[in-house]
Amino acid sequence: MIYQPDQMDQAYQTFLKAYPAYQNTLALDDLRATQYHRLDEQGQVYLDYTGGSLYADSQLTAHMDILRRGVFGNPHSSNPTSMAATQLDEHARRYVLEYFNASPDEYVCIFTHNASAALKLVGESYPFEAGDRYILTFDNHNSVNGIREFARAKGAEAIYVPVVPPDLRIDEARLRVLLNETKSGQKTLFAYPAQSNFSGVQHSLEWIDEAHAKGWDVLVDFAAFAPTNRVDLSRWKPDFIDLSFYKICGFPTGIGCLIARKTALAKLRRPWFAGGTITMASVQGDGYYLAEGEAGFEDGTINYLNIPAVEIGLKHIEATGIETIHERVMCLTGWMIEQLMSLRHSNGKPLIRLYGPVETEMRGGTVTINLFDPNGQYFNFREVEAEANLHNISLRTGCFCNPGAGEIMNNLSEADMRECFRNEERMTFEQFLMVMDGRATGAVRISLGVASNFADVYRFMTFAAGYVDRQAETAGELMTAERH
Ligand SMILES: Cc1ncc(COP(=O)(O)O)c(C=O)c1O
Repeated sequence: MIYQPDQMDQAYQTFLKAYPAYQNTLALDDLRATQYHRLDEQGQVYLDYTGGSLYADSQLTAHMDILRRGVFGNPHSSNPTSMAATQLDEHARRYVLEYFNASPDEYVCIFTHNASAALKLVGESYPFEAGDRYILTFDNHNSVNGIREFARAKGAEAIYVPVVPPDLRIDEARLRVLLNETKSGQKTLFAYPAQSNFSGVQHSLEWIDEAHAKGWDVLVDFAAFAPTNRVDLSRWKPDFIDLSFYKICGFPTGIGCLIARKTALAKLRRPWFAGGTITMASVQGDGYYLAEGEAGFEDGTINYLNIPAVEIGLKHIEATGIETIHERVMCLTGWMIEQLMSLRHSNGKPLIRLYGPVETEMRGGTVTINLFDPNGQYFNFREVEAEANLHNISLRTGCFCNPGAGEIMNNLSEADMRECFRNEERMTFEQFLMVMDGRATGAVRISLGVASNFADVYRFMTFAAGYVDRQAETAGELMTAERH
């Protein structure tokens, strides 16, 4: 196919025939026109929904109305303005549980700054001891990887379950072996993403029950899954769930949550106390009592003026229909993957290497690729991003805080990576490139969400097709160090 602006309508008709379910989602085009019109007014092609979703105009209006109308004080008091804030925030807290179909008898919602802060709460408080085990999949986000440092500091073992290229799904046989290897009295925590933010792979939620049956506590990172999939905590009952709300509804930033089963929360041992987390603390008595439930985990003052915007945002997604969003994203993802895989140079070599499943089953709308020239030399992902910027296309490049999946895809071995940490001192970026020896160190990620439409994906295809028969510059030339 030739991707020219004047051929988009024809391509759209062909797409509709191939993906008839897209017709069920046409209301989202109206929504984009009324609520996300700034995208088209500015000619922006937004393709980084896994980085952060976009907010509707109506979310801002509703939130500003609340702030303009009310007088709100710090909720740590019991004066009228403080109670007004408490009332709004507790309403939002209840709604978060309702949105995820989590029974308040079983789960609590702890507001945090983001998903990472929710994960840190689990990591620092999980009662790891020598001989305990933390197992986690290779494709976890760094904020889940980081829990291994808490585990090891307390003498527990951290063990990774590999993902297998090219689809980057888990080696389930290895997972089963590890889940079966428990000893009596051992505390065991298993952590994995419901959807990988690197490959878009969706892992089986059946593992939750399976791991529970063998005595494991289970942490499922729903940060990349929840924006385009229904999370039903009446069906799936992990012990800990982390989320960032800006990834679901675009606004507000700075608020996430840990949804924890009450029984699992009772096992956690906080390493400190802070304002707001205690019922009583004494300087001279040198003691404190931690508050029950979520209060014991919310350090200091919660983001009380923005928390009402979480409820507004989730209600907007609920009214739009998460199933409709899912349907649209999967139609567009399926088409885009097919198109990308069909791009060939004149010598027949593929332009794209896809890092993740080709099929749309058990995957989300996150598509990670690298582009290669006719000689198999890869186009530096930073160069690709810089060129996309010139077309107003917002992509994400690098390793997306998910080093394990990237290492597997780019054939980086344990020996290669250990080499990077051989010295106590920080490795320079030049030294790092020598270890990489011309191999890709990152990739290009395209991700879709609530306001995505066919034109976004078509414009990306026009951009990608521009690399057909082009020669790559020397790899690494445009690289700069990235924060992983
Ligand atoms: C799967 C996954 N987990 C956790 C996070 C961390 O989210 P935050 O940066 O909001 O803490 C992200 C962010 O990209 C993610 O994609």
